[in-house]
Amino acid sequence: MRRTLMLLAMSGGVLGAVGASMGHPVPSPRAAPVAAADTTFSPATLALGDSIFHGRAAGGMCFTCHGPAAKGTPGLAPDLTDAQWLHGDGSYAFIVKTVTNGVPKPIQAMAPMPPKGGAKLTPDQVAAVAAFVYSLRNAR
Ligand code: HEC
Repeated sequence: MRRTLMLLAMSGGVLGAVGASMGHPVPSPRAAPVAAADTTFSPATLALGDSIFHGRAAGGMCFTCHGPAAKGTPGLAPDLTDAQWLHGDGSYAFIVKTVTNGVPKPIQAMAPMPPKGGAKLTPDQVAAVAAFVYSLRNAR
């Protein structure tokens, strides 16, 4: 059930964009059931996200490009701890979407970010690592 909701939320954005480009009427992405709007995360979720980010769980590889402190690596991947976002508004929903899809067309980096950073992450694991990234700036 949870998984279905996640998929529904994602298809609202991804398929919605595809549908729009094909000229079909699409419901506003905001109409999708986005559990992502809730940005209160348990310590366990944040700890799991930390582990995934640093390659200690689920084969996460974020740190290899974004750096162990998530401060970015010039030419490779941007700082995730500052107020500047290249691809969106820095919201939790934006981070979940970006981690899920990767960044096929980077703005500053020389190479794309693969979906899920190249790891096989479940939607729950994506949610956890996104929560960790979100918390770097927002949960102080
Ligand atoms: C292969 C290198 C690589 C890996 C691994 C990687 N990223 Fe990225 N990431 C990038 C690149 C490249 C961009 C886009 C930079 C640009 O546009 O110049 C990016 C962008 C992002 C953004 C959006 C930043 C912004 O300013 O809009 C987020 C959030 C992000 N990554 C999170 C993650 C997370 C979480 C992981 C691990 C699951 C991860 N990344 C793994 C290379 C990587």
